[in-house]
Amino acid sequence: MEAILGQLEAHRKEIEAFELTTPQQVEEYRIKFLGTKGIVKALFGEMRNVPNEKKKEFGQVLNDFKLFAEAKYDAAKDATANSQPSTVNLQDLSLPGDVLPAGSRHPISLVRSRIISIFQRLGFAVADGPEIEDDWHNFTALNLPENHPARDMQDTFYISQNPDWLLRTHTSNVQIREMQKGKLPIRIICPGRVYRNETISARAHCFFHQVEGLYIDEHVSFADLKQTLYFFVQELFGKDVKVRFRPSYFPFTEPSAEMDVSCFICGGPGCRVCKQSGWVEILGCGMVHPTVLENCGIDSNKYTGYAFGMGIERITMLQYGINDLRLFSENDVRFLRQFTGAV
Ligand code: PHE
Repeated sequence: MEAILGQLEAHRKEIEAFELTTPQQVEEYRIKFLGTKGIVKALFGEMRNVPNEKKKEFGQVLNDFKLFAEAKYDAAKDATANSQPSTVNLQDLSLPGDVLPAGSRHPISLVRSRIISIFQRLGFAVADGPEIEDDWHNFTALNLPENHPARDMQDTFYISQNPDWLLRTHTSNVQIREMQKGKLPIRIICPGRVYRNETISARAHCFFHQVEGLYIDEHVSFADLKQTLYFFVQELFGKDVKVRFRPSYFPFTEPSAEMDVSCFICGGPGCRVCKQSGWVEILGCGMVHPTVLENCGIDSNKYTGYAFGMGIERITMLQYGINDLRLFSENDVRFLRQFTGAV
């Protein structure tokens, strides 16, 4: 017992003298004194050899010693935990950070959002529908007779598994699906991707994007159509824009028109963009044909409506002065990174 007390005293001195300035030293200390094969554990093992009447006293001495050894360890551990290992070079924190490359929105989606938000302010809701469509929703319901040129194999992609399926050639299929739901009035716009079997060039591609619109209620007139579209182009191109409507033909509208806006590049006198005419064609529109309403179960004596449709690529090209449609789908970041802000 006396011998052990003597050892304790020596260990105490050793602990006091132990230098604990690096994490490695702290770990060495832990292993030597507090580890499973360490000195504290070994001293507690000596309890077996201590006579019973001395056990309490000896236990207390040992506990004090243990707390003493632990206290030094805890203090040193906290003090060295945050110190850098000497092998790591300190970084110069005043250097500028690495710049993360930020993406930008695609010009088509910028212009699409802009178009959508203008119509949303007029109370139009956004409607969506399938890109793989059946013949009825894409053509027949829209009063496109069986021999209509738009059905020609050259214009439409048919799905070989089933000749009744095709890639929609316009988003009017969404309008048909909305009308079939039978909930009136309807005031929707249908943005989406459409497909046509065209030879790819600067002016044509096998797919592009449209926004079509439909408004059906009692007493909807051509005057409503004109005013809505006039508001739309003023919001898109500025208050000074002028519009003109030229008579046209679509199987699903009667009467039908193409709408032009005054050329926002030259303002009228004529330039390359407007092909010296002072006007740029922007969309097709008209009053929904009564047959289309009836095809979808809507009473054409009670309800009338208007519809319009535009290509987003075309408007984007005009707004940004882009002269090749293929740029939109080539994924060339030198082109895409130019479109970061609002339109
Ligand atoms: N669906 C027509 C097209 O894709 C556009 C359009 C829609 C024209 C509505 C008139 C009315 O060409």
